[in-house]
Amino acid sequence: MEPGVIKIGHGTLIHGDASTVLESFPEQHFQLIIADPPYFQVLVDEAWDNTWPSPEAYLEWSLQWVRACKRVLKPDGLFYIFGQLGKREHVWLHLCSLLTKEMQFHDMIIWDRAVGYNERYDSFTSQYEMILVLRASEQATPFFNKDAVRVPYDEKTIQMYLKDKRYKDPVARAAHLEKGKYATNILRVPSLKGQSREKIGHPSQKPIALIQQLIASSSRPGDLVLDPFLGSGTTAAAAEASGRAWVGIETNEDYLGIAQSRIASVVADLGLF
Ligand SMILES: C[S@@+](CC[C@H](N)C(=O)[O-])C[C@H]1O[C@@H](n2cnc3c(N)ncnc32)[C@H](O)[C@@H]1O
Repeated sequence: MEPGVIKIGHGTLIHGDASTVLESFPEQHFQLIIADPPYFQVLVDEAWDNTWPSPEAYLEWSLQWVRACKRVLKPDGLFYIFGQLGKREHVWLHLCSLLTKEMQFHDMIIWDRAVGYNERYDSFTSQYEMILVLRASEQATPFFNKDAVRVPYDEKTIQMYLKDKRYKDPVARAAHLEKGKYATNILRVPSLKGQSREKIGHPSQKPIALIQQLIASSSRPGDLVLDPFLGSGTTAAAAEASGRAWVGIETNEDYLGIAQSRIASVVADLGLF
């Protein structure tokens, strides 16, 4: 095995720069790409979020890795990109504009973090991040399984609908309600608190329940999922637990170590965190 490459479970951890590493993969190789890149000067204490001298340099760098991902995405695949507006920075708006000229816009998801992050007093408290969704081309029909991410109705709503006289067949109606409703593109998943068992030492760690919804809806069991900015390994752990194959790329060896032990725990059936 090459140095910096670790095979574990149904996936591969790779130490290196995303754009460079992706050159070694064939075209149209991945069904799903989940990218949570550096935001650019949102996390002021993290060196990896502050390496570009200007927004323009960050946009130029972003275009490089997005093109590298575009090359390896299957024609019916989806490409999710996390982004956030900081108090100081709004380069994400420019990035969205740039990337939707490069690839086909598919959707914009709001990740509602459920709890506000109170870093400013001159506006509303910030409570969401965005996930830009791109597909290969305008003609592409991406794979998407809406049934895999249904949300259960609460008991009160079920009882209310069952009393509605317009529905002639109560058995069919009950079976329909039992399946739950389709998830909207506002995904409400609480962000990780310091004391959460899931929180394991990455300042931008995403909740596994959020990533699981992207994987469940946008890939089939056995499909190959890529995360070019793996961080603490959330995508890899979620993919492994969901029976998908995966590849995770990360420049920071400490984060790769965290990811490796997380995935080892999933492989050993010790739990998902
Ligand atoms: C926003 S974090 C990802 C967090 C991850 N989603 C999680 O749940 O832990 C971005 C990550 O990208 C890594 N990174 C920065 N530049 C990179 C590059 N050129 N190639 C690969 N990884 C990079 C950083 O070290 C950081 O861990």
